[in-house]
Amino acid sequence: MDKRLLLCAELIEGDFVCDIGTDHGYLPCYLVKSGRCSSALACDIGEKPLASAREHITAQGLSDKVKTVLSDGLNGVSLDGITDIVLAGMGGELMVDILSRCDRIKDGSVNIVMQPMTKAELLREWLYDNSFCVKNERACISGRFGYSVMSGRFGVRAPYECSEEYFRFGLIKCDSDENTEYIKRECDRLERAARGMAGSADKKEQGERLLAVINKKREEVRRYDESK
Ligand SMILES: C[S@@+](CC[C@H](N)C(=O)[O-])C[C@H]1O[C@@H](n2cnc3c(N)ncnc32)[C@H](O)[C@@H]1O
Repeated sequence: MDKRLLLCAELIEGDFVCDIGTDHGYLPCYLVKSGRCSSALACDIGEKPLASAREHITAQGLSDKVKTVLSDGLNGVSLDGITDIVLAGMGGELMVDILSRCDRIKDGSVNIVMQPMTKAELLREWLYDNSFCVKNERACISGRFGYSVMSGRFGVRAPYECSEEYFRFGLIKCDSDENTEYIKRECDRLERAARGMAGSADKKEQGERLLAVINKKREEVRRYDESK
């Protein structure tokens, strides 16, 4: 289990998890083996990834507790008793597509853990517009990459504003070394995009707004580093 999946595991709240896009099935196996969950569904759209998940589940001796399901997103997945849904290692657009096609989760009865690989800002915007409240968001650094993991529920009013800062950095604050390192890296990545925008007439304003947020976050990073 890499740090990214371990962070997803930390945000699980209940004891019956449904992992969408499970691939190798590491996360559901880890959750059950470690006793955090009593059972799990390992779901994937691909036969090949599911076969590799089944192999791992069998090797771990968990065939009675971790079941595989061939499914496109949550289509056809029984959510009876499910406490948590995980969407990890996919793009933000695919997550939006999967979540938007499943009305059964909109009553807030399940905790949803998401780790977008790309387009986190698009996911955050869609979640906000669809009455989803992010309760936790944390970052981890693994090798050259920084990852953000968020969790929350539908149907709860978000107590934060849907600002440019929120879209870009979510709820991650300079309150730990890892979160701060993530913010630093995001500032570098976003600055390149913002400079490109600032040079084009129709995106100039957007680029300037983004640069202002980046400068604010860099100031927070500087204060955090100084306080250590
Ligand atoms: C990069 S892997 C991520 C595996 C694991 N969740 C992780 O974070 O390490 C993405 C997986 O999502 C699956 N996937 C893609 N689209 C999907 C969909 N619509 N429904 C279910 N699974 C999907 C792919 O088959 C692939 O196994």
